[in-house]
Amino acid sequence: MQIKRVAVVGCGTMGGGIVQTAAQNGFQTVGVETSEQAAEAAHARIAAGLNRSFARGKITEAQRDSALANFTISSDLSDITDADLVIEAVFEDVELKKEILGRIDKLVAPEAFIASNTSTIPLVILAAATTRPEQVVGAHFFNPVPSMKLVEVIKTPVTLPENVQTFVDFAKALGKSPVVVNDVPGFIGNLLIVPYLTDAIRAFERDVADMESIDEVIKLGFNHPMGPFALSDLIGLDIVHDMAASMYEEYKDPRYFPPTLLKQYVRLGWLGRKTGRGFYTYDENGARS
Ligand SMILES: NC(=O)c1ccc[n+]([C@@H]2O[C@H](COP(=O)([O-])OP(=O)(O)OC[C@H]3O[C@@H](n4cnc5c(N)ncnc54)[C@H](O)[C@@H]3O)[C@@H](O)[C@H]2O)c1
Repeated sequence: MQIKRVAVVGCGTMGGGIVQTAAQNGFQTVGVETSEQAAEAAHARIAAGLNRSFARGKITEAQRDSALANFTISSDLSDITDADLVIEAVFEDVELKKEILGRIDKLVAPEAFIASNTSTIPLVILAAATTRPEQVVGAHFFNPVPSMKLVEVIKTPVTLPENVQTFVDFAKALGKSPVVVNDVPGFIGNLLIVPYLTDAIRAFERDVADMESIDEVIKLGFNHPMGPFALSDLIGLDIVHDMAASMYEEYKDPRYFPPTLLKQYVRLGWLGRKTGRGFYTYDENGARS
């Protein structure tokens, strides 16, 4: 099956980036948000993303204009019915995702594919919420989606190989470099990065050093583009928290247990770059202040 029409449910940090990338690469794309207001805000964010890509010379004016014409954002889930592929990108909450996937399953054609952008939830749990588990894959894009090349494509024991291949081909059509991974909690990326982030936060809690110093050691000592606190702010502290909690649930390894400080910041609404404050503070242009 060839994918032509794409739907993305949940157009926040990741879903918005997926809509932008799909529209930029010629796919007719519909995004779905929770309300008209949220849909309008998502549309404005995606349009701003396209304008930024144009301003930075990553896409031409014509590409920007055709991308703007290729996507719509709706507040009505039934607008996904024509999609060949639906990508779910709502909050990292297993019950919410199961509920949404069940609704998606009822709305789209029997041959359509369903993908989830979950970071840590076992794909089999989500596949089982549909009547087509062999057509469900994990589509773990990385943030920011328009510029990050990697997509982890997660297959369960029941995903048909040809369906994995269809999704791999779709990811390549988006200009991505897909890596196929088996369905283990955290896949490859988060299996390794989440305990690193929680270890860094606990190191700060133990007063090993301040956050800037920990970030500096990782940047200068290991040539990472940013340290664990800046990276947590980029990912979103709520997302880091939810990934850690979900992986702790699965592995019961204390390294995954969400650190107290992380929980406190999330409860304060300090979620990182997206709220202007996380471990660091940011101005309206996203620069550290
Ligand atoms: N942030 C990252 O770096 C990152 C990276 C890879 C994967 N992920 C995963 O992607 C998913 C989304 O994360 P995010 O960072 O984009 O979160 P986010 O909070 O930025 O966006 C989630 C969006 O889903 C919308 N939403 C919630 N319920 C909905 C519903 N019923 N119908 C339609 N929309 C709904 C919300 O309004 C919000 O805009 C999570 O599963 C997360 O684990 C995140």
